[in-house]
Amino acid sequence: MKSMTSAELRKVFLDFFAERGHLVVPSSPLVPEGDPTLLFTGAGMVQFKPYFSGEVAPPRRCLASVQKCFRTTDIDKVGNERSLTFFEMLGNFSIGDYFKRGAIELAWEFVTEHLELPEDRIWASIFHDDEEAFALWQDVALPAERIVRLGKEDNFWGPAGETGPCGPCSEMFYDRGPEIGCGRQECVPGCECERFLEIWNLVFMQYDQDLEGELTPLPQQNIDTGMGLERTAVVLQDVSSVYETDIFAPLIAKACDVVDRSYGEREIVDRSLRIIAEHGRATTFLVADGVLPSNEGRGYVLRRILRRAIRHGRLLEREGPFLAEMARVVIEFMGEEYPELRERESFIVGVLAQEEAGFQQTLAMGSALLEDLIDRVSSEGMTLIPGDDVFRLYDTYGFPVELTGEMAAEKGLGLDEDGFEKAMVEQRRRAREAQTFGLAAHSEFYRPFDLPPTLFLGYETMEATGKIINLAMEGRAVSEIAEGDQAALVLEMTPFYAEAGGQVGDTGLIASDGGEFAVSDTQSPVPGLIVHYGKVRRGSLRAGEEVVSRVDTARRLDIARNHTATHLLHKALREILGEHAQQSGSEVAPERLRFDFTHLQAVEPGELDAIERRVNEKIRDNLPLSTVITDYQAAVGSGAFAIFGEKYADEVRMVSAGDFSRELCGGTHLQATGQMGFFHVLSEGSIGRGLRRIEAVTGRGAEEFVLQRLSLIERMASGLGGTSAEMESNLNGLLADVDSQRREIRDLQRRLARVETTRVVDEVREIDGIKVLATQVEAPNMETLRDMTDWLRDRLGSAVIVLGATMDGKPGFVAAVTPDLVERGLRADALVREVAAVVGGGGGGRPTLAQAGGRDCQRIGEALNRVPDLVSQR
Ligand code: ALA
Repeated sequence: MKSMTSAELRKVFLDFFAERGHLVVPSSPLVPEGDPTLLFTGAGMVQFKPYFSGEVAPPRRCLASVQKCFRTTDIDKVGNERSLTFFEMLGNFSIGDYFKRGAIELAWEFVTEHLELPEDRIWASIFHDDEEAFALWQDVALPAERIVRLGKEDNFWGPAGETGPCGPCSEMFYDRGPEIGCGRQECVPGCECERFLEIWNLVFMQYDQDLEGELTPLPQQNIDTGMGLERTAVVLQDVSSVYETDIFAPLIAKACDVVDRSYGEREIVDRSLRIIAEHGRATTFLVADGVLPSNEGRGYVLRRILRRAIRHGRLLEREGPFLAEMARVVIEFMGEEYPELRERESFIVGVLAQEEAGFQQTLAMGSALLEDLIDRVSSEGMTLIPGDDVFRLYDTYGFPVELTGEMAAEKGLGLDEDGFEKAMVEQRRRAREAQTFGLAAHSEFYRPFDLPPTLFLGYETMEATGKIINLAMEGRAVSEIAEGDQAALVLEMTPFYAEAGGQVGDTGLIASDGGEFAVSDTQSPVPGLIVHYGKVRRGSLRAGEEVVSRVDTARRLDIARNHTATHLLHKALREILGEHAQQSGSEVAPERLRFDFTHLQAVEPGELDAIERRVNEKIRDNLPLSTVITDYQAAVGSGAFAIFGEKYADEVRMVSAGDFSRELCGGTHLQATGQMGFFHVLSEGSIGRGLRRIEAVTGRGAEEFVLQRLSLIERMASGLGGTSAEMESNLNGLLADVDSQRREIRDLQRRLARVETTRVVDEVREIDGIKVLATQVEAPNMETLRDMTDWLRDRLGSAVIVLGATMDGKPGFVAAVTPDLVERGLRADALVREVAAVVGGGGGGRPTLAQAGGRDCQRIGEALNRVPDLVSQR
């Protein structure tokens, strides 16, 4: 057997298949492109699904790849010696080229001649009644006793996602010897133990599975294979687990370093170290591919493993953050193979650091809550934590359910999972209702009519003639609508664009001989159906009658300006901030555009300028806009931006602005970028962790903005008594004047305060041999009141002084007690509190000097009158 590093294994694998006519294809991202039914890329075949199904022709019939994969199936098991979430899959694929025999021959040749695995250690499993595979394995190499038959669970693969290509499979196992595993005489592949390591899965992909689970034969017979890089490395490096291979060794070393423990001494510590290493690697790759921590979908999976890693760091008494450190090591060791890690290093590290900081707080708060909960549940003799409580921890405190489960299990408790599910479903229902009630109701309304899809003419024209095929009012179908009626109108064909992809719906006019309908919004409550909402302005309209529909052209053009601008902005953001800056949402209206994207920190003013300049440069270049209908793979292959998570049909519309930007988009655009005139960013800000929003204007909106600003400047300039050119110096002059006047006022106030002190100094009384002065004065602010107290103290020597005044309509007090009297037990802070209590306020300070405020000015005198009593009580 050859000893091989993981890098060598990747290379030997790809070289082997390239020499045998396979096209080597790079790994696709972990977030499947254009496939919302799949959360993550979990196998090499995912990016080739359209080839297998026959929808798209492959660039070559034989393909090979090293694919990064993420699977959620084993998340809870990570921590043992072999379960992983992130892994690399080596794969060869045949799209209607070789089938079972070819796949088995190639696999056998590769492992025996190129990896030099000893032949007598290799076993195979087949789908129980796949006699063809059974015969082929014997024919190629294996004796019948090293071929085992397994059921559907093990040896039928797929589909990836809800539907798609699938088929029976055959797995290759490596026998690590009887000394490993269960030790039973009859142990064979399929046994739960560690003896037989599954290294390669060969899928004979020949069916397409639909939503009902029905299988239909595919147009051609295909091969899809997957060899686990990490597991094969275990065999080739002759180690006992993936964590000892060259892939994980540096990560385990780093994990040991951050928690200051060693690996291989105590199983419970090792488990946490493995979790930190594995989840640290997986999170780094997920963030690199644009997944951000959130409370749902992909983001939730990321959050869940991220938090699990942090918690295991805590269990090993690591207090501070460490995930960013883990990520740096992952990037150092895997950045060569996956350059996107290096390109996005600062983004990855930043996201992890932010989430970790946030979770430290959550953890502190949630853990305390959970501990109380656990105590309560145990003391009441229950064994399950109620679902509502689990949900509250999840929803309010961001505590992943699995974490709650794990922490509860440590105390011997379980979770009421059904109760949790119920709470979850209920919350989703509320959220959905809140969001889409309007449109959902309309979609329910239209479904029974089974109307044909509306022909959309709006890419080519703003005006069209066609029949009304449905009229509705107040949730009922009607045959006629008359002046003043609010109604919904469906045409057989229309130039009106229904809101989609962030672009708002069109407005305009629909007219017949006998009436006019003003369209205030256009929506598509059912896919393909376009509905015009509005009001009859004149006369009446009847179902079945022919009408002319006219889009409000000026408004549509304003929208097109902003829509084309979002494409230029998207591209400019990526150029200037980096490839991580991806669109996560947008809203294109006539007045302005809003663009949301992933980026960790505020966009610097310099960067924002550069982005704005870049977009305006491309406007001046007057790039032509062009549209082609193409297939998804070709579009993405040519560098077009697709939005993650959007569903794209096989045929997509690709919008290009010259050679500068290319996007998959169904919206309406300009003919050339010059029509935009001018682009200006109004604001940039955060809308959540790792998400930013830019608002901007173009064309008329930008002109309006600039004119308003200029007129504001003119008004200000004339207010300052000059032209706009003189404005700055005039303003500086004014500010200097204000400043000197302010100083003069302060001076006058001090002088007045002096006079005031001289006036009240005579009011001093002696109580038990102590000089006490408590009186109301005139003072503009606390500072002056304190000054007055100071002067009086200087004048009186040993004394108790309490001054009160009305300042800005509220009472205020300052009390001073000289140190000799403090020694005799008098305190300014105690005094001022008692006094302030009379006017409904409070305060404090030191024993020698204190101040207080209150509410009731009428009672200042009464409050001060208490002072002599308070002094004599001491
Ligand atoms: N797609 C197959 C698997 O993932 C090869 O096992």
